[in-house]
Amino acid sequence: MNRSLWIFVAAFGGFAAYAFLAAGIAHAQAPDLSRFSVEDRKSGYVFLGEQVRALQDDDFQNPGMFAVDRGQRIWNTVDGEAGKSCATCHGDAAESMAGVSARYPQFDADRGAIINLELRINEQRMTHMMAPPLEYESEDLLALTTYIAGLSRGMPLEVNIEGDAAPFFEKGKDFFFERRGQLDLACNQCHDDLDGMMLRGDKMSQGQINGFPFYRLIWNSVGSTHRMFEWCNTSMRAEPFAYGSEEYLNLELYVAWRGRGLLVETPAVRR
Ligand code: HEC
Ligand code: HEC
Repeated sequence: MNRSLWIFVAAFGGFAAYAFLAAGIAHAQAPDLSRFSVEDRKSGYVFLGEQVRALQDDDFQNPGMFAVDRGQRIWNTVDGEAGKSCATCHGDAAESMAGVSARYPQFDADRGAIINLELRINEQRMTHMMAPPLEYESEDLLALTTYIAGLSRGMPLEVNIEGDAAPFFEKGKDFFFERRGQLDLACNQCHDDLDGMMLRGDKMSQGQINGFPFYRLIWNSVGSTHRMFEWCNTSMRAEPFAYGSEEYLNLELYVAWRGRGLLVETPAVRR
């Protein structure tokens, strides 16, 4: 068996054990939204081993920085029939985009639904550049998203869940606590109830999204929040939803709110 296959098996072997543990404490876990007070909310960084932390901490070693560089190039590249780049209108992203990603996802009046940073970027391409949307999870969309989110690094997540966003937030919250799939598990059973639990030298995190898009070592690539949701859903043996789907957008809003106050770490590095 080659190395990546071994890693794959090791990861999923571990997952079955998590599921087993989670199933054991499955009952009587009523949604408790106050489970994490400000001091209790923890970035996935806290649960990492020293080596992976060191990778994230050093911009020269952090493999996610390739996506940042690529994103910066795309920011400045003219595309589409309008003959414009992002920079044509927004100038220096370090100024115009600082803090923006910390407010995403958010309610969008035109869509009448939640929009995240990936979809905002595509909307900008279509309306302002007359360029086709970039495929979700394509290298280019990930790069541009990572670049823009990276410009909020060190700023606290702060999404709005009030007003028009409220019903979507409620749906996302329900999703988080709903059991699904063959293993009959909900997100909270692992990420609220088992955080910090050691398993084969690996620690379960709170499932926070302050580092996204992040570089995941077992993927050997950068990935989006929705790819992570898909991975967890699949591992729960539940049918995953599509990238950019309403279900995942609502869930993303809930999870971002759940981690409010955590500092953006993009591009984070995770196992
Ligand atoms: C059976 C346990 C389990 C369930 C259920 C589960 N996950 Fe995960 N999740 C994991 C493991 C294992 C990882 C990788 C290690 C870590 O970060 O905890 C992970 C990682 C994550 C991360 C990345 C955290 C970071 O710091 O980068 C997010 C976000 C996440 N999960 C969200 C969810 C959501 C949303 C759901 C429900 C749809 C869910 N998970 C369901 C086990 C689970
Ligand atoms: C023709 C000018 C123009 C171009 C080109 C353009 N934008 Fe914009 N952008 C705007 C305007 C105007 C707004 C505010 C209203 C709106 O959302 O359209 C905006 C808003 C945004 C926002 C939301 C900011 C917030 O605070 O929520 C983001 C993110 C963004 N643009 C990113 C981009 C990216 C990335 C590109 C390139 C793919 C791009 N824009 C191309 C004019 C432009």
